[in-house]
Amino acid sequence: MCGIVAYLGHREAKPILLEGLKRLEYRGYDSAGIATVNGKLEVCRTVGRVSVLEDTLRKLPGFHGSIGLAHTRWATHGEVSERNAHPHRDDKRGIALIHNGTIENYAALKQYLREKGHVFTSETDTEVLAMLISELYDGDLEAAVQNALREVRGAYAIAVLCEKEQGVLVVARKGSPLIVGVGDREFVVASDASAIVAHTTQVFELDDYQVAKLSRDAKGETTFRTSTLDNVPVTPKIRQLEFELEQIELGSHETFMMKEICEQPRCLRMTLQGRVSEREGRIVLGGIAEHARELIRARQFVLTGQGTAYHAAMLGEYFLEDLAKVSAKTEYASELRYRNPVVVDNTVVIAVSQSGETADTLAALRELKERGALTLGVVNVVGSSISRETDAGVYLRVGPEIGVASTKAFTGQVMVLAMVSLYIARRRFMSMDTAGEMLGELSRVPELMERILEQSNHIRKVCEKYVDRENWLFLGRGYNYPVALEGALKLKEISYIHAEGMPAAEMKHGPIALINDGMPAVFVANKGPQYDKVMLNIEQVRSRGGRVIAVATEGDQEIKSYADDVFYVPPISDPLSPLLTVVPLQLLACHAAVLRGHDVDKPRNLAKSVTVE
Ligand code: AGP
Ligand code: GLU
Repeated sequence: MCGIVAYLGHREAKPILLEGLKRLEYRGYDSAGIATVNGKLEVCRTVGRVSVLEDTLRKLPGFHGSIGLAHTRWATHGEVSERNAHPHRDDKRGIALIHNGTIENYAALKQYLREKGHVFTSETDTEVLAMLISELYDGDLEAAVQNALREVRGAYAIAVLCEKEQGVLVVARKGSPLIVGVGDREFVVASDASAIVAHTTQVFELDDYQVAKLSRDAKGETTFRTSTLDNVPVTPKIRQLEFELEQIELGSHETFMMKEICEQPRCLRMTLQGRVSEREGRIVLGGIAEHARELIRARQFVLTGQGTAYHAAMLGEYFLEDLAKVSAKTEYASELRYRNPVVVDNTVVIAVSQSGETADTLAALRELKERGALTLGVVNVVGSSISRETDAGVYLRVGPEIGVASTKAFTGQVMVLAMVSLYIARRRFMSMDTAGEMLGELSRVPELMERILEQSNHIRKVCEKYVDRENWLFLGRGYNYPVALEGALKLKEISYIHAEGMPAAEMKHGPIALINDGMPAVFVANKGPQYDKVMLNIEQVRSRGGRVIAVATEGDQEIKSYADDVFYVPPISDPLSPLLTVVPLQLLACHAAVLRGHDVDKPRNLAKSVTVE
């Protein structure tokens, strides 16, 4: 929801903080700010992108020193303005704080602090936290943070510094991500590893309700201690980051989204690597092996997620029922967490999430875990909250996804869910030959995808014909109904065109009233078991003046007499077709956003990871 980055070490903090903010800007970008201490606390905050902050700082003296905080905001409490931007400071002690998350009981705390004489300058919940720490400060910043956080309800990842302790940075988390990079006589703390990997690959994560005090003494030696809010020492596990800087660089691409669409073949090869043995019809998934028996005996799978992850989860449901012959259902996490679900014995929950930090998905997972379900995570970010709180899981291994619109994570999620379903099917009743055939097809998906990516110019040309239309429909059947939903989400979230996905058959139950002259309707019309039915639906649109864009199977000449424009994908079995049919829709959305002059990687109002409700 926002990006936090903090530095304590032997180098000038400002350039490191600004570079870190740029790496995190995809997480939220309505305003930004920085605080440093060099004798005295200095704070600068600006509305708009990090570049505005950078330009402002160029004209300002000061902001030196080797300790600092920086933040790029996605507002939840208080309008987008300079006074609501972070860092927030207190009014008495020279304390500054940055925060990702929401403080649910901020109003009551604000009232209490006003009665104590504190004067607030913003509408945010975050400022309340800064004032509370100030109120409790008596010369020990770590203790003040621990004591303050015991009074707080909500989600937070925070970094705090104080004029009176210039060699100390205190960080803490509950429900929002925070990673501590342990470098050579320096610490870099951030919301995710993309702001750390340039400085060190040695990192640790805090668990919820934990605090870390990072210290640098007069000789420049650095130490850290981690503890609970009750000051009980804990020992974090330091691990090696598993990706390099170049994975989060644009390279020769115009946008991260286009880069991530185009690198799907390479990334999906990583997803498959070492996990699939076509010859023996076997799948090796170390992350779930110890729970194999429970998975084989499961009576009910509940898949959950939000947005694109929800669409991937729907395909997981179809795979489990169709391939593993086990009951499965998919629910939006935001609904599942509150509707008091019945959890029967031998239920397995699969939480699907690129970031592993989506608040609703994490909450739904916790709710069903409480009720006795076995929990699996299908997650991209290693060490993320969902990956740490599930009993087992499978990482996507598609590398960092920077574009706000999820692309390679979607195909990675679908690939992993197909593998998990085949893993279970093979252990229940599926023969080695049948499994081998499917695994062979799965292994060929990356090369088939490359053929689709070659059509990008053709897809852009088709997009130019319709990009001024403000309302689109996306329609599909069976395995390609979730693809229709995903195509609609992609288009709307980065081109701001209103797009609606639905089952193709559903159109005649109302939405067909929307069809008017020239309205684009995108059909996923690959050669599948319902191909003929989809043709009927296409006719229904054309006879009412709609324009039809079809995703079809290579060699299908018949479709040309039905559709105005066709994007071809190679032939593949129906269950695996979403891995291919989604790619033209990803490209369509990306081209539409560029043609409409939007910032593809930072679409308005959105953030990469929704870590608040
Ligand atoms: C996808 O393009 C969107 N940016 C959004 O719907 C996203 O899929 C959703 O917020 C879930 O995020 P997650 O996968 O990190 O949990
Ligand atoms: N709740 C805080 C605010 O509105 C932080 C929001 C965020 O996580 O970006 O400023």
